[in-house]
Amino acid sequence: MIEIRTATIADAKALAELRWEFRGAQREPAESHDTFVRRCAVWMRHELPIDGAWKAWVAVDHHVIVGQVWLQTVAKIPNPYPLVEPERIAYLSNLFVRVDARGGTGTRLLEAALAWCRENRIDRVVLWPSKRSVTLYVAHGFSQGGEVMELKIQK
Ligand SMILES: CC(C)(COP(=O)(O)OP(=O)(O)OC[C@H]1O[C@@H](n2cnc3c(N)ncnc32)[C@H](O)[C@@H]1OP(=O)(O)O)[C@@H](O)C(=O)NCCC(=O)NCCS
Repeated sequence: MIEIRTATIADAKALAELRWEFRGAQREPAESHDTFVRRCAVWMRHELPIDGAWKAWVAVDHHVIVGQVWLQTVAKIPNPYPLVEPERIAYLSNLFVRVDARGGTGTRLLEAALAWCRENRIDRVVLWPSKRSVTLYVAHGFSQGGEVMELKIQK
């Protein structure tokens, strides 16, 4: 039975390993596994404290972390109607589940992050999907080609 729970700083090393598994497979890494995992774990340990801007949820199968999703909240400039329009947005990233734990786990991680957004007055959530994952986000109400404009600085 796979359990979904919030991540803690004690998870940082395992989450850095999963990040390597996800991103290291997408293109030729420019740093070694050990260098990356060390650097990424330090970053995650720094970003994960409870009152930090980033939050994460993990999928755990028999005490082994098999998936993760991350969410960063970004403050909007105050509007004169805060009760109507919440004043934070969220950026969702790093949704990844190990191949042998897939089949519903990604949905559960995504839903945990979205439930937190609904409970914490987030106005909207943005993300950059991989091509294959678009159907997952659309099934959860995300739209494409909406109001967000994007400029890629680094080609
Ligand atoms: C995306 C991912 C977390 C989904 O996990 P999962 O447990 O298989 O998800 P679920 O079974 O709950 O949902 C299935 C949906 O996931 C997406 N999905 C399935 N396989 C996928 C893959 N290899 N890559 C990306 N998305 C995938 C599809 O939207 C699928 O819906 P569909 O079959 O109706 O098209 C998992 O496939 C994964 O880690 N993929 C690689 C990383 C990735 O692409 N992450 C998204 C970055 S934006």
